[in-house]
This record gives sequence, C-alpha cells and structure tokens, in this order.
Amino acid sequence: MDRELNPFKPGSGLRPPALEGRAQQIDAFDLLVARSKRRNYDRGMVLSGLRGVGKTTLLNTLADHADRHGWLTITLEARPTDAGTAAVRAKLSQELLVALRRYSRTHRIHQIVDPLIDIVRSFSLGIGLGPATVTLSSAATAGSGDIDLDIEELVEAIADALKPRGSAFGLFIDEMQDLDSTLLSALLAVAHRAAQREWPFFIIGAGLPNLPAVLADARSYAERQFLYSTIGPLPHAAAAAALRDPIVATGGDITPDALDMLVEASGGYPYFLQEFGKAIWNAAANNPFDTDDAELAVDVGRRHLDDGFFPSRWTRTTDRERRYLTAIAQTGEEHPRSGQVAERMGSSTTAISDVRDSAMRKGLVWSPEHGRIAFSVPGMADFIRRQPRP
Ligand SMILES: Nc1ncnc2c1ncn2[C@@H]1O[C@H](COP(=O)(O)OP(=O)(O)OP(=O)(O)O)[C@@H](O)[C@H]1O
Ligand SMILES: [Mg+2]
Repeated sequence: MDRELNPFKPGSGLRPPALEGRAQQIDAFDLLVARSKRRNYDRGMVLSGLRGVGKTTLLNTLADHADRHGWLTITLEARPTDAGTAAVRAKLSQELLVALRRYSRTHRIHQIVDPLIDIVRSFSLGIGLGPATVTLSSAATAGSGDIDLDIEELVEAIADALKPRGSAFGLFIDEMQDLDSTLLSALLAVAHRAAQREWPFFIIGAGLPNLPAVLADARSYAERQFLYSTIGPLPHAAAAAALRDPIVATGGDITPDALDMLVEASGGYPYFLQEFGKAIWNAAANNPFDTDDAELAVDVGRRHLDDGFFPSRWTRTTDRERRYLTAIAQTGEEHPRSGQVAERMGSSTTAISDVRDSAMRKGLVWSPEHGRIAFSVPGMADFIRRQPRP
C-alpha cells in the first residue's frame, strides 16, 4: 500500500491512529473532571505499566481532556540523574509560567493570574532557579527556599484563584518513579493537604510498575491518595481494533486470520501493534491484507524491534549490567528470584545488589515482590536470548 498513507505510529508517546482499550481510565478521569466542576474533588490518578504499553499516550490524552475543560495543566517528565533532577525542577516553574500566561490569555483574567505569575517567579528563586534580577512584587511569597512550604503556598494561591471558576490545577507527571525524592515528597504532601482543604489540585502520574511502591515509600498515605490503575497489554478485541480500524479508515482491509496472526505476535502490546501495523501496511501487495502479508509483517516488524526498540535499552548498559540482564533472561522465568540470578552469575545476592540497583535506576528491571526481579521491557528476555554469546 501507499507508504505515505501508512497510519501506524510506533514511537514514544505518539498519538496512535486508534486509542483502544483505555475506556476505563478515560471514563474515570472524565468523571474526576466533571465532578471538579461541581467542586467535588476526587483523588488523583496513577497509571503504571511496562515499557511501550501506552502510558505516555494515555497521560497526554488525559491532559488534553483537562485542558479542553478549562483546567490549568502542566506536564513534566521526571529524569533519574542528578542533572535531570535540577532540569525537572527548572521545568516545573518554567512550565507553570507558560501555563499561567496561556491560561490568562485564553480566559482573559489577567488580574487574577498576574499575581500568580509573581509567586511562581519567587518560587523559582526559592528553589535556586531563574535570573537573580527578577524583581518581586510585595505580594509575592513562595520564595522561602523550603520546598515543602513553597510548593504549598504556590498550589494554595493557584487553587484559590481557580476554585471559584470551577476550574482546577492538574500536574501530569510522566516517568514519575524517577522524580527526585524531595520534590516527590513535597508534591505528595501538598496533594494530601489539598484533598483535606478542598483545593482543586490533582496529580496525575504515569510510570513503571514500581511506581506505586515508590510513592508508598515516599509518603505512607500515598496508598490512599490516588486511584491506581495498571496499564497492561490490550485484550484481544481492543488489539484487533487498534490494527483494523486505522487500516479500514485509510482505505485498506485485512482478513480475520491475518489480523489474528498480528494480534497474537504482538501479545497485545501497543508498541508492537504499531510496529506490526506499519509493517503490514507497507508489505501488503493486495487488499485485503492476507496471512502471507501478516507473516512477512511479523518478520519485518520483529527485525525493526531488534534494530531499535530493544537495542535502544541494551546499548545503554554497562558490561556488568549486561551480564546481570543475561542471567535474568537465562532463568527462563518471568519473575525469577534474585538468588537464582546471582547464582547464574556465580555470585551472591548481596554482591550483585549494586548492579541490580543500577539496572533498576535505568528502568530496565523492577521488583514485582521482595526478592524477585523482572524486566520492565516486554520481550526483552527473548531479545537477550537471541543475542550471540560474547
Ligand atoms: N491504547 C493504544 N492503542 C493503540 N496504540 C497505542 C495505545 N497506546 C499507545 N499506543 C502506541 O504504542 C506506542 C507506545 O506508547 P507510549 O509511548 O505511550 O508507551 P509508554 O508506556 O509511555 O512507553 P515507555 O514506558 O517506553 O515510555 C506508541 O507508538 C503509541 O502510539
Ligand atoms: Mg512513556
């Protein structure tokens, strides 16, 4: 088929041609927004799942929805390194300034928003950001340097301004497991206070499967603070629709058998669905696409994954991390015990704890339960087993 028309989009956070199987989360968020207009404030939401399962896409969809309903929204992506931490803090205040300016223009409420902009500027200074030459209005607070206090004052001021309008402040945080612990604790504490004082402030987070545990470690009440939702592979019907609907909408068609083959090969993982969808569109000689096309598409799609999706993770590892990941893959188990992995490396659990931690920080593995380890990237174990032995 004509490559120019190919509707599929394998990539990071790219809006898919059909967003399937996420009605439950979208409906829950719609309800949160609708209730917030009536000043009934629910808990924020946390979406967690493996790599490539569609968390960023869903988070962006929810943020767009909130925007359309007149919320003040900002979106952040956390980073694991120290340099990343400073960048995220800088981005927080910068995004807030941009969002407030945009909000003030769209809603024509300069008198309400301008003082908030001053507060954000002093907040930037308080956390060691921004030009030292900024002059603060006398009303400006949130510059104490104590991040807990400053964020609280900032959120309170914004919430006070938005509440009478039935609007709300939504902070959307991607890769939230990587947020630095001080900022994370401060944000959770403010969201907690916001809930008690009925401030319209919501954190909507997305991240790897260890995110709920990271939040619980940061603040014990985090377990009750959010509506938690696991974002998994798509069930068969949704996965089939994610492939078939864009094909049909773009003037193609696919036989049920060919569709089943692609769904099966993808395991319902959204990233893989996009990759196989793209491959069958480009490979198909005739319309409707048949099982010969599907077979070829699975081959081509897998090759693409082996050239991009997996190596982009694999090449970021050190030699020792590779040996660790290989040992996990060699167990053949989905959630092997750490002891088993250590044994394969001819070592002890304590001796490999540093490499386990570094692989975790890189978001390659996570611990589904105490003493067990698993890949955060679906299909990673098979990819590693396909690699030539060094
Ligand atoms: N519900 C869905 N239906 C069909 N395709 C989807 C769906 N959600 C996401 N996708 C597609 O899957 C791919 C991966 O999505 P996304 O980047 O949001 O995943 P992610 O979970 O954020 O991954 P990572 O953990 O690597 O950041 C994208 O190409 C996107 O278009
Ligand atoms: Mg993502």
